[in-house]
Amino acid sequence: MAKAMAAVLCFAFHVLVLFLFVGCAARPFYPLHSRFLEGTRQPLQTTRPYNIAHRGSNGEFPEETLPAYKRAIEEGADFIETDILSSKDGVLICFHDVTLDETTDVGKYRKFANRKRTYEVQGVNITGFFTVDFTLKELQSLRVKQRFPYRDQQYNGKFSIITFEDFIEIALQAPRVVGIYPEIKNPVFINQRVKWGDGKRFEDKFVEILKKYGYQGSYLSKNWLKQPVFIQSFAPTSIIHISNLTDLPKILLIDDTTIPTQDTNQTYWEITSDSYFEYIKNYVVGIGPWKDTVVPAVNNYILTPTDLVTRAHAHNLQVHPYTYRNEYNFIHFNFHQDPYEEFDYWINTIGVDGLFTDFTGSLHHFKNWTSNLPSDDSGEQRASGLLQKITLMVNSYRSR
Ligand SMILES: *[C@@H]1O[C@H](CO)[C@@H](O)[C@H](O)[C@H]1NC(C)=O
Ligand SMILES: *[C@@H]1O[C@H](CO)[C@@H](O)[C@H](O)[C@H]1NC(C)=O
Ligand SMILES: *[C@@H]1O[C@H](CO)[C@@H](O)[C@H](O)[C@H]1NC(C)=O
Ligand SMILES: *[C@@H]1O[C@H](CO)[C@@H](O)[C@H](O)[C@H]1NC(C)=O
Repeated sequence: MAKAMAAVLCFAFHVLVLFLFVGCAARPFYPLHSRFLEGTRQPLQTTRPYNIAHRGSNGEFPEETLPAYKRAIEEGADFIETDILSSKDGVLICFHDVTLDETTDVGKYRKFANRKRTYEVQGVNITGFFTVDFTLKELQSLRVKQRFPYRDQQYNGKFSIITFEDFIEIALQAPRVVGIYPEIKNPVFINQRVKWGDGKRFEDKFVEILKKYGYQGSYLSKNWLKQPVFIQSFAPTSIIHISNLTDLPKILLIDDTTIPTQDTNQTYWEITSDSYFEYIKNYVVGIGPWKDTVVPAVNNYILTPTDLVTRAHAHNLQVHPYTYRNEYNFIHFNFHQDPYEEFDYWINTIGVDGLFTDFTGSLHHFKNWTSNLPSDDSGEQRASGLLQKITLMVNSYRSR
């Protein structure tokens, strides 16, 4: 019985994947603003640490693609996360690296061979094919691939780069309220290379798009709960600039403490001081630190935690560390190669308020299985909803 069920599920999953492919080929994905009826969708959970789907479920699908985000939503993400960069013609896209080399097939096109450039990005000379040298149309002609060789390669070459607006539509069309967590990525570099009219800069365009889709309101306000969003950036000046444009909640990202920020003369060590927290809390609701900045590690063992979380909480700042990944090469030996032990430590010992993970499903299962909340029926509802959807898909597939 269990075996038969597994076989059906397995078959259903493949059909589901097939549908993702088909759904992906035609654009636009959805009619603009065809929303669910107001108030009929299950709300965002706000009582447990946020499950932030880092670049979508990129543990399974190529990062920042439509199927990666859809999968993350199915698996229980509270927020889908993305990096915003720009095309040459000023369209904001979802893409992590400033160059296309690592995660697309750009290298195979002869017509693009002469686009290779060397630019200085945050004090380092980088050579490659930069998104800012390609129009949106050209970017969309490329195909994305999995970043890490030890992850599933079968989707390489199947999906294209999506825009910031496509990404928003995915969240707005989800069957429950799903938040978005976009990063203003490399703003100094983007503003050097891409020019918009009317003296507008990258950050202005970023906020314009959020407003166009109705994102508004401060953290936990009624409007925010309808369309939750955290805006993230490593650049304090970008965050301060946009705080004049929107009261949406912002998160300051914090890298290794020895690294200088891209836009000020300060290192991240300086911007984790109490006096800095006192200043920046006027602009942000939290910080997003690299997890080794919170708990340092040596020889793949974690050491005594710093007081970063305690001090951030004392300033009423949330802490959302990055990045939790299931593979053994990312899990410190203290956790016995068990990602659940790692989640347990960060949630119950360190007390973080959100986690960026490549494996949304695992974090969701961990929270579901360890939560005592009696009213938490969301997981079950979602699971049976997914099964129903799969059954429908299987049936429609069979009747063709
Ligand atoms: C980058 O390369 C340019 C040209 O060769 C050079 O002038 C500049 O100093 C380099 N920058 C860095 C950070 O190495
Ligand atoms: C924000 O707006 C105020 C009033 O318009 C202006 O004085 C200030 O310079 C602005 N701040 C930033 C960071 O743009
Ligand atoms: C960085 O430091 C230099 C030299 O001390 C100063 O001229 C410059 O204004 C500083 N830049 C910023 C963004 O603070
Ligand atoms: C959530 O937990 C409940 C109770 O332990 C379980 O029945 C349900 O299947 C779980 N749902 C998911 C999606 O894991």
